[in-house]
Amino acid sequence: MEGYEKLGYVALNVSDVAKSRDFYEKQVGLQRSGDLDDGTAFLRCSEDHHSIALYRSGKPGLKRAGFEMKSERALDQLASRLAGQGIAVHEVSAAERKDLGLGRAFRISEPSTGATYEFYANMRQWGGKPFKPTVARIQRIGHFVLKVADFDAACRFHTEVLGFCVSDMIDGTICFMRCHPNPYHHGVGLGRASEDQLHHVNFMVTEVDDIGRGISRFNKAQVPIVNGPGRHPPSGSMFLYYLDPDGITVEYSFGMEEFPAEGARKPRVMEPIKASIDYWDSFLDPRKATVGAIEGLDTTVAKRIAAE
Ligand SMILES: [Fe+2]
Repeated sequence: MEGYEKLGYVALNVSDVAKSRDFYEKQVGLQRSGDLDDGTAFLRCSEDHHSIALYRSGKPGLKRAGFEMKSERALDQLASRLAGQGIAVHEVSAAERKDLGLGRAFRISEPSTGATYEFYANMRQWGGKPFKPTVARIQRIGHFVLKVADFDAACRFHTEVLGFCVSDMIDGTICFMRCHPNPYHHGVGLGRASEDQLHHVNFMVTEVDDIGRGISRFNKAQVPIVNGPGRHPPSGSMFLYYLDPDGITVEYSFGMEEFPAEGARKPRVMEPIKASIDYWDSFLDPRKATVGAIEGLDTTVAKRIAAE
């Protein structure tokens, strides 16, 4: 399979779009890239149409995650593989694709968590208006992590069906996967938990000063920092976790191992101890990763593509 270009965007449900849009713009450092009549807001940290979409909802958390494929062919290959596995593949309507700046796209319900995943090969670009970093030199949306009740089944689906590659495992508890052949250590993480939930959304920053300045900015604005600064042994990233206005956990990370498309090292299996997550043993607030309801796939707006 030709595979993935990258994690394209994350759509979040938030209780107050204007408040969250302000937070993601002024505190996180994303750039506004449009609003819809229904109040949905888009922000970006690249030339893509959006990197984050904010939808109004009474249940803050993950609305869906969008993955950009390498090509239309890769999109077709994935659709046939999913249909072959008995997964319902739902085409995204032309009207919604127009709002999202997407070419052909389809969605599925991830079988273990019920999370909505979307796949497309093309998203409209802001060619003439490059992303201009403000409070942080954000390079890209890096990854998201889900808490999953059926950890083993979720890991199997992401690797065997979606085709992600395991980069590292914290034995039996966390699985870090890259969207092969995208080089970054993880685009998606899964963590064993008692319930299915969004754990956090990550933005990769350019320098250690982005972490340091973030700490000062968040302290001044009373944005709760819930973990860090610390360092993740699996990916080598320095991290800082903080809360958005609904209490959804957001992460900045600086530095991440990159893998070649072919001949990559084999995944490591690390001891399930705290030092495997953070070798700085940094500050941890119990509010970390406690808000993040997963919204199921709305099949009323998506037409199912018949399995071939
Ligand atoms: Fe992370």
